[in-house]
Amino acid sequence: MDFKLSIANEIAAALETAFGETSLTADAIASVIEIPPDTAMGDYAFPCFRLAKTLRKAPPVIADALRAAIHAPFLKEIQSVKGYLNFFIDRATYAREVLAGIEAHGGRYGGSDEGAGRTVCLDYSSINIAKRFHIGHLSTTMIGNALKNMYEFYGYKTVGINHLGDYGTQFGKMIAAYKLWGSREEVERGGVNAMVSLYVRFNAEAEKDPGLNDLGRAWFRKIEDGDEEAMSIFNWFKKVTLADASRVYDMLGVRFDSYAGESFYNDKMGRVIDELRAKNLLVESDGAQIVDLSEWNMPPFIILRSDGGTLYATRDLAAALYRKDTYDFAKCLYVVAYQQDLHFKQLFKTLELMGYDWAKNCKHVSFGMVSFEGESLSTRRGNVVYLDELLEKAVEKALAIIEEKSPNLENKEEVARQVGIGAVVFFDLYNSRIKDIDFRWDRALNFDGETGPYVQYTHARSCSVLRKAGSCDAEPDYEGLATPEAQDVVRLLEQFPATVADAIDRNEPSLITRYSVALAQAFNKFYYENRILDDDMGVRAARLQLTRDTRQTIATALGLIGIAAPERM
Ligand code: ARG
Repeated sequence: MDFKLSIANEIAAALETAFGETSLTADAIASVIEIPPDTAMGDYAFPCFRLAKTLRKAPPVIADALRAAIHAPFLKEIQSVKGYLNFFIDRATYAREVLAGIEAHGGRYGGSDEGAGRTVCLDYSSINIAKRFHIGHLSTTMIGNALKNMYEFYGYKTVGINHLGDYGTQFGKMIAAYKLWGSREEVERGGVNAMVSLYVRFNAEAEKDPGLNDLGRAWFRKIEDGDEEAMSIFNWFKKVTLADASRVYDMLGVRFDSYAGESFYNDKMGRVIDELRAKNLLVESDGAQIVDLSEWNMPPFIILRSDGGTLYATRDLAAALYRKDTYDFAKCLYVVAYQQDLHFKQLFKTLELMGYDWAKNCKHVSFGMVSFEGESLSTRRGNVVYLDELLEKAVEKALAIIEEKSPNLENKEEVARQVGIGAVVFFDLYNSRIKDIDFRWDRALNFDGETGPYVQYTHARSCSVLRKAGSCDAEPDYEGLATPEAQDVVRLLEQFPATVADAIDRNEPSLITRYSVALAQAFNKFYYENRILDDDMGVRAARLQLTRDTRQTIATALGLIGIAAPERM
């Protein structure tokens, strides 16, 4: 039941009875109905000021007359206050209608098929080869994952792309170093760390013997030319890096549909350069080929270096065209830190200048900087925190708490993983994405207050209530949900679909994270203040229904942001 529209219908009918006025449609009336900031002023309010002109009567007079003409069982009370009509919905009816709406949709409550037949590409995580996964990569990975879930919940087909950073002279240097000093066993055993050591050694030796740099460049050329030996070593480096990353992705429950990274576009950049040239967009500048963006107050977008080498930008242009051709996306989202704001503005502007009006469907979903214990992340200062270590630590802590509080829990290890990892992910997705995040052990691993474990615990609590209750066949008496605490839960449940819609509209998973906390808090208040297993079976049935629908909505919300909802904790 759409209460706003129902009220609008009542008002339309009353306007006719009281004033013979028929020019306003219910939809027009609905569009001016407000939701008062304070429920003491009603659930909905209709201002009569605009009618004053047409009806030539003072607003309070109109409000009084309408009030007298409306009689609807779903309205408990109507007040006429200073030109406003304030409507109070009958609480039991409100609860019944909201819960019926949830039950009709089941686990799809809050979802939609609005995106059916359309595709969204999401470029996220996009890690660099031969670098270890540190906490700076958590946000792009988890925001991207959450957005993927959210768009799928809206019926879109999604393509998760890990645009690997696997192109650059450093890989030539790494291969040179490997050929000079490395061994297969060492890399197999040490993984990414062994590759990093080779690279560090190369740079140190090149200080003494600059000729080494030529060797590095020569190996890079070989990669570009697809030389067999170079490619086999390089592909093996990639495999080792991805095996490392996959462990983290598995822990986080994240997966990708494509790992087409920068080097994938090796043979696809020529077409872009030709096209830019044909469209008269390339300008020479100090030997380099650039797209001049000064008219839009941006520095030039550099497409070819003076030595003919391509750039990150060139590959991103090729990638955008490839994605459009391959997936015919309705949207292409790039979940990348705000340091690259300018790069994406230049990229989208260049696509627009190339005449692609779909450039407007490409969006940079930027997010803030990550620091750790107040210090910015920099590989050099030795304070990098690797993601797998952070996650393992969180799992250990969760396990210790479970051992202490519920030693008899059956699948302790699994629940500890869900809770520990959930805590870190929740922390990451709690604030609006553009805010900088300072990771602190104590806060990321905090299990009380507005945290993932708190929401998970509330979910487990509702499961436990439902288990204990067993079956209850009584006809629900929704007067049992007329209490202020129950009404707060109902109101939040009603807001879930609008919250999801807003979160998708703004590509902002934190709206769902925060919603889940609000719902958990409201439910816990209800749980403490109202007896769910009331002696009155009708009341009990209604409160169990509320518990069931809250449980489901919390599970859906957590699922959207990529967090598990264990049934026991
Ligand atoms: N690998 C890049 C980095 O770590 C991020 C790539 C983002 N995606 C893109 N299409 N540019 O900074």
